[in-house]
Amino acid sequence: MKVLLIGSGGREHALAWKIAQSPHLRGLLCVPGNAGTGVYGKNVPFPLTDIGALVDLAEREGIDLLVVGPDNPLADGIVDRFLAAGIPAFGPTAAAARIESSKAFAKEIMAAAGVPTAASHVFTNPADAEAFVFASGRSWVVKADGLALGKGVIVPETIGETIDAIHHLAATPAGSHLLLEERLFGREVSVMALCDGQRLLPLPSARDYKRFGEGDTGPNTGGMGVMAPVDDVPPALLDQIVQQCLQPVVNELAAREIPFRGVLYGGLILTDAGPKVLEFNARFGDPEAQAILPLLEGDFLEVLYDCAVGGLNPEKLRRRRGYAVCVVLCAEGYPGKPRKGDQISGVEAIDDDQVIIFHAGTTLGGRGLCTNGGRVLGVTGVGTTLARARKRAYEYAERIKFDGKYYRTDIGAE
Ligand code: AMP
Ligand code: GLY
Repeated sequence: MKVLLIGSGGREHALAWKIAQSPHLRGLLCVPGNAGTGVYGKNVPFPLTDIGALVDLAEREGIDLLVVGPDNPLADGIVDRFLAAGIPAFGPTAAAARIESSKAFAKEIMAAAGVPTAASHVFTNPADAEAFVFASGRSWVVKADGLALGKGVIVPETIGETIDAIHHLAATPAGSHLLLEERLFGREVSVMALCDGQRLLPLPSARDYKRFGEGDTGPNTGGMGVMAPVDDVPPALLDQIVQQCLQPVVNELAAREIPFRGVLYGGLILTDAGPKVLEFNARFGDPEAQAILPLLEGDFLEVLYDCAVGGLNPEKLRRRRGYAVCVVLCAEGYPGKPRKGDQISGVEAIDDDQVIIFHAGTTLGGRGLCTNGGRVLGVTGVGTTLARARKRAYEYAERIKFDGKYYRTDIGAE
């Protein structure tokens, strides 16, 4: 099978690494890829916005399967265009990807499917939202409707902060529709499942660490690290989450003739009244994929293909025993404007097969390996216990050097 992989982050390196383990792989093209994906295939520096050119490339290269990492190409309809050209694609169509790209649509689907989630109200102008908040006499979580790179949610403590949040988000590109949501309390977990439009194959649960600083402080980021699986989610609860939160959404979308193929990612909060959905994503999380994929055994590529063509066999992937911890190393300046071009050393000297280094913001040029983005590398340690997985990840997080390196030291410190 010849695969075209879209994206350039640590998630895509993890996907390339896992796909490359399949005996069915005949060739891998990554657009645009990074220094890590280049080890398993050819990187093609193409703009992701030119979907027509990507279809042409796939036809020229005889691609058998498209695998999409990030959310934007999905929302732009990359899968629709490949399907129209007769090329199987792992990832949802633009219509199905709205479960992520529109929070209002996700809420509508959850309501129709009876999925437990926070009560919410949609507004198309800030004045109405403001009037609603004053009339309710309390604070609300404020969300911008569209894709906002994790910056579209504010959790205020007071009515005044709620009003400020409304005005702030209304002025952002994603803010033409606003959601006001009841605030929920509990521990957060992520549950992803592979999906062929009908059936689900649940992956190990994960906890991502979104805040920049130790102890979940500081600004939100794309993710500073992940542990998987999460002990708060024993097998019976994972089953309950799949049956109550994920499967009904897949059924509802199928009934509307917009079948969901790809990864359905539920961001959940474990409240006293049971698990509730905070949001859905229509793709693998990043860095979540960097911790979860090393825990899977079986022919991953074959399963992605089965999802794409609608014949998923949930028995084909097994979960390896043990834990994985991924620590993200970031560049000076992240999550603001990261500095690029710092030389990286220590990546080659990995002599532990329970440690995998995933590239994200890196580039390989005349000066060797250099930083080229905010999240530079993901260091994943695997182990039979959480403590062993953590120890391995942190040992190598320490050994890798570049100027301005920063990482959180409390990933997986449960
Ligand atoms: P989202 O992008 O919708 O997952 O929101 C980002 C983060 O905001 C979540 O991971 C939560 O920490 C927080 N959050 C979102 N919605 C709520 C809610 N209804 N109650 C409490 N916290 C929330
Ligand atoms: N790490 C969060 C995400 O990928 O959405």
